[in-house]
Amino acid sequence: MGKNKFLPRIAFLNLTIFILSLLIIAPAQAALSQDDKVAIGTEITTIYRAARGVIAKSQKLINDATKGDKGLSADVVITKTKENYKKATGNDFKMAAAGTLKAETQTALLNSIKEVMHNAQPLINEKGKGLKGFLPAIFAKQMGDGFNKNISGKAHIKLTAPKSYVRNRANRPDKWEADIIENKFKKPSYEKNKVFVADAKHKGKPAFRLILPEYYKEACLNCHGDPKGSRDITGGKKEGGKLGELGGAISFVIYN
Ligand code: HEC
Repeated sequence: MGKNKFLPRIAFLNLTIFILSLLIIAPAQAALSQDDKVAIGTEITTIYRAARGVIAKSQKLINDATKGDKGLSADVVITKTKENYKKATGNDFKMAAAGTLKAETQTALLNSIKEVMHNAQPLINEKGKGLKGFLPAIFAKQMGDGFNKNISGKAHIKLTAPKSYVRNRANRPDKWEADIIENKFKKPSYEKNKVFVADAKHKGKPAFRLILPEYYKEACLNCHGDPKGSRDITGGKKEGGKLGELGGAISFVIYN
């Protein structure tokens, strides 16, 4: 049978690719230092915030009932995300070397942003509809879910908040996050904006974990401020949060 004579060659090729991938990819990822992991966490949380910032800045436009097409395509949002990234870091966004976990996480997040924006087009471009519920935190949740799916078990990202402030149960802090939020971030002596990193389990698996505190700004208080329990424009109950108070956190994980 003529077909079969290719089988050994294919098997050999597969074996070669397998061995090459062990030689090239495995050591590169096994060799991640704590600094490398912090760098990846910083990169991913920075892109995540940059993208959410685009949606925050576009709220008026998104909720403009007189306009159809808002011009917020996936590509436009990626371009603006990279602009925000540059504002935040002073550097141009740059893809890491192919095959590294950093590049994989960058790709997973950028693809997630594109997917979320692609799927959101009918909603945000609906003419005649004002408030659309496409809020920064909702976008962030979707962006995180997409990232977690795309990175297939190697890393994880989530927007969370102090337990008493969480609106969406899916954003509830786990035990480790709640502990850092309550016992580190909320302490007056804790340095503002400083990330906390540790080796700790996530969903039962040993991991490197990084968590970044976020604080209420004036604009947040329209929905998260006083009077506590009164309704915000989305219909949710205001938290009674104060300016500068810890309002949330971004939690990032790299599995060992
Ligand atoms: C227009 C009202 C509105 C504004 C303004 C707003 N939020 Fe929210 N926020 C919400 C709603 C509604 C949710 C719940 C989203 C969901 O259901 O997933 C939320 C969720 C969150 C969450 C996720 C935790 C949770 O409760 O589920 C964080 C963190 C958060 N907001 C922080 C902020 C910060 C910080 C700002 C200002 C930069 C801000 N929000 C501005 C309405 C708002």
